[in-house]
Amino acid sequence: GAPVEVDISKLEPGQKIDVEWRGKPVWVVNRTKEMLDNMAKIEGQLTDPNSDGSDQPEYAKNKTRARADKANVLVALGVCTHLGCSPTFRPDLAPADLGPEWVGGFYCPCHGSKFDLAGRVYSGVPAPKNLDIPPYKYVSEGVLLVG
Ligand code: FES
Repeated sequence: GAPVEVDISKLEPGQKIDVEWRGKPVWVVNRTKEMLDNMAKIEGQLTDPNSDGSDQPEYAKNKTRARADKANVLVALGVCTHLGCSPTFRPDLAPADLGPEWVGGFYCPCHGSKFDLAGRVYSGVPAPKNLDIPPYKYVSEGVLLVG
């Protein structure tokens, strides 16, 4: 499939947009500093904190837990690594249904897998590895090329 250009110049902090690449959803999230800081709190509850197990470009492997070329911008494949459902964006802190330890992330409604805002999977859920990260690059400040 051809690479997909994504204009992120109007993506506000805290917001997510979805694009399609090779027939799959790709998420782009402009993470706030608070979101990035909060990910530190769940470091001890992750299956693969160093992101050794997923498909991802080298520059997204694990840069201080952000898994991104530019720390604030997450680009991830929106496909659960358990059986392929599409998880739901849940940036809220400690919602009633996800519990006090939830610091924002993606929740898979199919079998309850939980991922943080870098797509890192929580331990104790069915998904075995972090979300995959597609190859991407910045063609200018506000424009990404995915693929
Ligand atoms: Fe996501 Fe099973 S497909 S938890």
